[in-house]
Amino acid sequence: KGCKLIGCGSAVPSLKISNDDLAKVVDTNDEWISVRTGIRNRRILSGKESLTTLAVEAALKALEMAQVDVDDVDLILMCTSSPDDLFGSAPQVQKALGCKRNPLAYDITAACSGFVMGLVSAACHIRGGGFKNVLVIGADALSRFVDWTDRGTCILFGDAAGAVLVQACDSEDDSLLAFDLHSDGDGNRHLNAAFKESETDELGSNGSVLGFPPRRASFSCLQMNGKEVFRFAVRVVPQSVEAALAKAGLPASSIDWLLLHQANQRILDGVSSRMQIPSEQVISNLANYGNTSAASIPLALDEAVRSGKVKPGHTIAAAGFGAGLTWGSTIFRW
Ligand code: ACO
Repeated sequence: KGCKLIGCGSAVPSLKISNDDLAKVVDTNDEWISVRTGIRNRRILSGKESLTTLAVEAALKALEMAQVDVDDVDLILMCTSSPDDLFGSAPQVQKALGCKRNPLAYDITAACSGFVMGLVSAACHIRGGGFKNVLVIGADALSRFVDWTDRGTCILFGDAAGAVLVQACDSEDDSLLAFDLHSDGDGNRHLNAAFKESETDELGSNGSVLGFPPRRASFSCLQMNGKEVFRFAVRVVPQSVEAALAKAGLPASSIDWLLLHQANQRILDGVSSRMQIPSEQVISNLANYGNTSAASIPLALDEAVRSGKVKPGHTIAAAGFGAGLTWGSTIFRW
């Protein structure tokens, strides 16, 4: 069995925050942020917007482009690390989409690599599980976990959602050509938003004889060693894309577009120069949206498809990398 990508869509919150806006809340400035990261604006959830509303908007656009009815979707994979519900957002997306046949819907948590993991999972479900129409949604609202007093991290992130519709097809039309996925828990110390017990809590008391009930707990803000994450990305991403290309039996010169997780323009430049891929073939939209985690690849893909940059038959090497640490690549034809 083969699978092909037949539709994409994206959605961003209405509230736009510029570098100048950020300079009003932390000690930073437009020049520092633009030069070091390439980011100029980001979108942040506000009002009645939620991750679910963004995901649904992106999914409906993908379904419209694919000309697939919502009731023909048999699997929804929601790639996110910042769900509306700790137990998972995918079933809420299923309900909000109005799917009458209750397709299977679950979350995939792999930070900024989430969408690539989701795309590969969709292909495995189609090839091995008999699924026909799979919605892969990458959506994150890291604004929920950013420390807005930490100028080293809060300038980087934005909220968004992107989606693709992956459909089963005959093997000769297979357009998901190869993949290469990795994780390394040792690097977790460089990038995390860890679970932590509260220091004081009247509800529980670990000091009691039983150490029970447990203290109330929450997740801490995102912590990052930017330099380590930067070095990690520039080292592993070219290796992973090259491994995926080798599995597909394709040379790097056959790629029409390099579509990397949009973390930092200097990472995009570092990876493309190591791979000797001209900058005109590197998709970049992070100036407008910052790092939108699992949403960044489908958001950039959607913009590139709708603007006519990415055309039917083009070969795309997409790579995600981020917390976990996790990273991975896929080679697919649009
Ligand atoms: N504005 C002004 N000055 C700043 C800011 C800011 N926003 N942030 C840091 N600085 C200062 C620092 O205090 C430091 O000052 P000092 O030299 O007086 O000590 C100086 O600028 C340099 O700081 P560095 O942290 O060394 O700057 P660097 O060049 O490494 O850039 C950055 C930092 C942009 C975070 C970079 O390391 C990076 O982008 N790393 C990759 C991060 C990334 O992509 N993470 C996401 C992965 S995806 C995921 O899964 C979430």
